[in-house]
Amino acid sequence: MKVKDKEFRVSIPESEILKQVARVAKEINRDYEGETPVFLAVLNGSFMFAADLLREITLPCEISFVKMTSYEGVNSTGTIREMIGLNTDITGRPVIIVEDIVDTGLTMAHMLETLKAHNPKSVDICTLLLKPDKLKVNLDVRYCCLEIPNEFILGYGLDYDQLGRNTRDIYTVVE
Ligand code: IMP
Repeated sequence: MKVKDKEFRVSIPESEILKQVARVAKEINRDYEGETPVFLAVLNGSFMFAADLLREITLPCEISFVKMTSYEGVNSTGTIREMIGLNTDITGRPVIIVEDIVDTGLTMAHMLETLKAHNPKSVDICTLLLKPDKLKVNLDVRYCCLEIPNEFILGYGLDYDQLGRNTRDIYTVVE
């Protein structure tokens, strides 16, 4: 598949994604038994993941969406912008962040800091994808569906210059 100037090939088919999403949802259902967590999904990239994850959650729960972009093109700009759109009171509540991909981890580290100021009961990170080789900060990622090598990917919500979010499978750039 060609997106703008780059060629991509399927690297994680939908069936594998959904299998891992169901596995992680099961872990959350077990770990949060008796609680009513607030899922905080980070737009835009996590919209598909959040939809599939939430359909596997059997706990009473809420979902809210925030924005925290720091990415342009294929290279992290390093610009961490503010978290916007938090319209749910998370004070004293268990929060589960739903993120599409943890790359350097800087976005998540900054978001954790921001959320702490609201005094939630707890905050856990649930990410669809993790690039372990690119992590720059010490981050506790409690829930991770898939670990991937250090390659640019798109699809299933993730983009390349805002394109390519609308696929069922995940694609990797062909160098
Ligand atoms: P971090 O702050 O470096 O961890 O970057 C996290 C954000 O960068 C994610 O929420 C994505 O929006 C974006 N990102 C990182 N790697 C990729 C990729 O391979 N494809 C698409 N977006 C990515």
